[in-house]
Amino acid sequence: MSAYIQAKDVVKVFRMGSTEVQALRGLNCEVEKGEMVAIVGASGSGKTTLLNILGGITRATAGLTIVAGRDVTNATPKDLGLLRRDVVGHIFQELNLIPTLTAFENVELPLMAAKVSRGERKKRAEKLLTIMGLDDRMKHKPDELSGGQRQRVAIAAALANDPEVLLADEPTGDLDSETGSIIVEYLHKVNKEFGKTVVMVTHDSSIARQCDRILRIQDGKIISVSVPSQNDESSALSRVDIAREQLAEVKLEIGKLDRMIQTGNIEPAEFAERRMDLAKKKKVFEEELHRLGL
Ligand SMILES: Nc1ncnc2c1ncn2[C@@H]1O[C@H](COP(=O)(O)OP(=O)(O)O)[C@@H](O)[C@H]1O
Ligand SMILES: [Mg+2]
Repeated sequence: MSAYIQAKDVVKVFRMGSTEVQALRGLNCEVEKGEMVAIVGASGSGKTTLLNILGGITRATAGLTIVAGRDVTNATPKDLGLLRRDVVGHIFQELNLIPTLTAFENVELPLMAAKVSRGERKKRAEKLLTIMGLDDRMKHKPDELSGGQRQRVAIAAALANDPEVLLADEPTGDLDSETGSIIVEYLHKVNKEFGKTVVMVTHDSSIARQCDRILRIQDGKIISVSVPSQNDESSALSRVDIAREQLAEVKLEIGKLDRMIQTGNIEPAEFAERRMDLAKKKKVFEEELHRLGL
């Protein structure tokens, strides 16, 4: 029997002019039907690339890819379109929602693409938004919603066509920890109550530990697979892992901050203060990793 979701020796090379980036370097992983797995790893390690291959957004350069029991290794663009429409729901790291459309319309959009009738669209979009606790926010546009609410609209939109698999790329990335844990609760609900297989990329080790398994990715390969257990101290992440994760998080924050100053979205004084704070943290984690012999 073939796997439900499988990547076997998957390689992804991005070519940009004369330079090549090897985002995935012979990656192997499997996910069973009904599982909820977390993918963790430093920024740039290939998490989004893997999710995009599983979601039929991009095709691997080499290797085998199975999604929901279908071999999509050599799928045509049309096949991939159908995979995206009917089989996989995808919550992207950025640009989840169309800013000019209401919450309702954003959920309705994938249903229109699937040629679902108007009445049925209304029924399903309203039901999904209600499940996500947004029955009083249907007519709001994304910028009239909080970050957590927007992310819940994105989940509802990803579920619109009742996909078997839900892919979520750092769904709590920009949220404070409390809002983030609410989002994760909804994703658990999607997994447990609706039986969707969920593959979630996260930087947050406490969120990862709530999943059935944790796949750790480094330099375009899965380097470890672990089963977390809430009550088992020994299964907690090692200090090395924690320091690595914290360092990755800080680097990500620095990147975000740098983009904010470039785009004029932050006052220089605040930028300088936060940047210095992050630089200090970065040094602490780097020194810790150094002490641990890495
Ligand atoms: N479309 C692209 N073109 C060129 N390089 C890319 C593209 N997408 C990703 N990469 C590169 O591939 C590597 C992995 O990226 P990504 O999968 O986004 O990492 P992660 O999600 O873990 O932060 C990075 O070095 C990144 O710069
Ligand atoms: Mg990413």
